[in-house]
Amino acid sequence: MTLTDRFDLGEPMPAPTASPEHERRLALRRSAPAQDLTKPGPSPAQIQRILSLGARSPDHGKLFPWRFVVMGPQSRADLAEKLKALVAQKGLSPKSVAVLAKLTAAPVSILVVSTAAPGPKPVWEQELSSGAVCMNIEHAADALGFSASWITDWYSYDEDALPLLGLTAGEKVAGFIHIGTASEPLLERVRPDVAAITTTLP
Ligand SMILES: Cc1cc2nc3c(=O)[nH]c(=O)nc-3n(C[C@H](O)[C@H](O)[C@H](O)COP(=O)(O)O)c2cc1C
Repeated sequence: MTLTDRFDLGEPMPAPTASPEHERRLALRRSAPAQDLTKPGPSPAQIQRILSLGARSPDHGKLFPWRFVVMGPQSRADLAEKLKALVAQKGLSPKSVAVLAKLTAAPVSILVVSTAAPGPKPVWEQELSSGAVCMNIEHAADALGFSASWITDWYSYDEDALPLLGLTAGEKVAGFIHIGTASEPLLERVRPDVAAITTTLP
């Protein structure tokens, strides 16, 4: 029997089974520094797969309150030039230019845009859903053997930068998920003391 992970609407799906490999991947996933992401990156088919897996995220009300912009190197280089001009025009700090290295390095970047709007479900929940999408894109990239980095930086919040990113009124940047191969080994970072932030109730 050929195993498939595609099901028709309403079709019963298999119950989860324990997967030590999946568990291990979750335990080992680490973000790469975005400026250290290099080739190889995902192929067009792999990008589509990553987006499909990312879009498979919890979403109260089935509103799909997010959209994707797949950005190759050229579009990000062009965007970085426009952002540099904006930095000069607004007199922003030199660091605002330095961080653009994180925007342009990776072979491919997926801009996740939150399209949350007042409606049947709280905007907060719609925005949380876009964060879940970002995380699932990171997990999908990891599953396909790539590293990723979730970056926002100043241009995700600057009202003059947002039109340069192609955002329309009311839209927000959930994140740029940069995807590629880390040029250096990734080092473990500090992790929370889970027991200290956990309350267990009977
Ligand atoms: C919403 C969001 C925005 C972030 N924006 C930035 C950013 O602008 N610049 C940055 O260096 N890291 C940013 N980070 C943090 C990186 O993704 C960071 O490398 C990552 O959280 C490392 O943790 P991990 O190895 O467990 O994935 C952001 C993280 C989140 C969740």
